[in-house]
Amino acid sequence: MSDCTDAAIQATCNDASVCKKYAVDKGYWMDRFISYMVPGRIQRKQPEISRGYYARTNSIWLLLKRFLTRCSCTCQIVSLGAGLDTTYWRLGSENMLPIRYIEVDFLDVVVRKIRCISAKVPLHSCLSDFSTQDDESCLHCGSYHLVSADMRNLGELEEKLKQSGIDYSVPTLFLTECVLIYMSPEKSNAIIQWVAEKFSDAAFINYEQIHMNDTFGQVMISNLKVQQ
Ligand SMILES: C[S@@+](CC[C@H](N)C(=O)[O-])C[C@H]1O[C@@H](n2cnc3c(N)ncnc32)[C@H](O)[C@@H]1O
Repeated sequence: MSDCTDAAIQATCNDASVCKKYAVDKGYWMDRFISYMVPGRIQRKQPEISRGYYARTNSIWLLLKRFLTRCSCTCQIVSLGAGLDTTYWRLGSENMLPIRYIEVDFLDVVVRKIRCISAKVPLHSCLSDFSTQDDESCLHCGSYHLVSADMRNLGELEEKLKQSGIDYSVPTLFLTECVLIYMSPEKSNAIIQWVAEKFSDAAFINYEQIHMNDTFGQVMISNLKVQQ
């Protein structure tokens, strides 16, 4: 799917959060923050979709909490291609925040998320030192950092992580939830290799679409192409 336009790739964060909100509303898991990221009514989804999102969200959640527990929260989490994800707020409500939580996405997605956070008290009241943003291209509030980068450009990604105070010596968990598939294998390999070389203690959670040549995968690819 690396040949889809950037606009179509950015739009995938809507689908992810809309499907998560639908599943949350149906009681698959608890997330009292997602409705602030995705306001309004949502069209009915097939139960298979909600079950798939439950497996995806819950498996990542369990791994994240295991990592945080092992490090006694003295660690960093870097969510690459975070979209409108609410994991930071969910961890905060369980008193399980790491010392640094960095989210990275394309500029348009970051601007949209910052506007959403700024407009919704339940979101920004969880961030320390939050003040109304003049610069909508990044947000640095206590342990929370939201920055923009095209991650196919490793130099840009590294610079934005530096601006967020990344510490290469602290245990760091990288999360890519349905993200790497939108770039070429060379570009995603470069990110993984950079993490392996740069960090003394790093872990990687990657949750990805597979079997893109079966009927389901082909329908997904053609839907993305229609959005271009
Ligand atoms: C399917 S969404 C997943 C969002 C989030 N991880 C989740 O599961 O809710 C993919 C996200 O990856 C981001 N993304 C894909 N390629 C990217 C790139 N080269 N640079 C920055 N962000 C990228 C998209 O903008 C989008 O927000």
